[in-house]
Amino acid sequence: MEGQGEHHKSKKILCVGLVCLDIISVVDAFPQEDSDSRCVSQRWQRGGNASNSCTVLALLGSPCAFMGSLCAGPVASFILEDFQRFQVEVHSPLERAACVTPTSLVISSAATGSRTILHMNSNIPDVTFEDFSAVDLSTFKWIHWEGRNADEQLKMMAEVARYNAASPPQHRIVVSVEIEKPREKLYQLFPHADVVFVSKDVARHLDFHTPQSALQGLRGRLRAGAVMICPWAEKGADAVDADGTLLHSDAFPPERLLDTLGAGDTFNAAVIHKLANGCRLQDALTFGCRVAGAKCGFHGYDGIADKLTQM
Ligand code: ADP
Ligand code: FRU
Repeated sequence: MEGQGEHHKSKKILCVGLVCLDIISVVDAFPQEDSDSRCVSQRWQRGGNASNSCTVLALLGSPCAFMGSLCAGPVASFILEDFQRFQVEVHSPLERAACVTPTSLVISSAATGSRTILHMNSNIPDVTFEDFSAVDLSTFKWIHWEGRNADEQLKMMAEVARYNAASPPQHRIVVSVEIEKPREKLYQLFPHADVVFVSKDVARHLDFHTPQSALQGLRGRLRAGAVMICPWAEKGADAVDADGTLLHSDAFPPERLLDTLGAGDTFNAAVIHKLANGCRLQDALTFGCRVAGAKCGFHGYDGIADKLTQM
């Protein structure tokens, strides 16, 4: 993950995963079931973990690209325009007929900063190995997968491993993966990345109740030389490096906690940005918490651009 010269720097970070429409209602306080109340505001926002991480990578100045499924129609136009606004390159090979772009209804509570997500993904197929094979790997220095269709993603990772084996060290692609959902199938992905992000939900599901115990308990699933990172909301984030040393960063809460939607995606992007630029894991962890904490002080992502200049 060390800096590898000018040519390498101009290469992009590719994030593979979900893009969806987030319809966000900001409320003063979380509503009662079967009540009828007014929102403070409502907005459409491009969402999805990989898509959100691209937004933050772009704001941080890392050239990046997104790969994920989209269905033709007005929602896709909104999404594509927004990618363009942030100068994120889009690889969406899939204009599949008769599908619906995934959508989340989000209740964002101004009282607590909580985000309650109702996600609908009816019939859109995830990116396949065949789709992925169409990309020119030589334009990327880092590929990040949001763990989803693990069987296909394993084939994609194997393709990158073959590419790396045939490339000189300075052209090798770093691989990261986020294992966020507690789904058994996704756990196959642990040994196939250089950097693994594991969520507190997965940790808890596997009966680990602190990030340290999760990292210690799950470390054996990584391949040699890999690192694992475990963000834990207001407790900050922990990591284990390749030789087993545990690292920690406290969280950096904003003055006012407004919007935690996408905090994890922001954290992942900020960590990847730093590691891709040759920083040490501890520095990347601390930076991830700083940027994610700052994000929680704004609705959406636009507000963090100014904050980033002070970090
Ligand atoms: P997710 O959004 O995927 O649930 P987490 O809740 O684990 O992700 O948060 C990711 C990172 O965002 C944390 O490591 C932390 O740095 C930051 N963060 C999240 N919630 C807060 C909070 N309430 N205060 C400060 N930082 C937070
Ligand atoms: C935030 C997010 C939202 C999306 C949801 C999908 O992490 O990506 O943008 O609606 O999660 O699970």
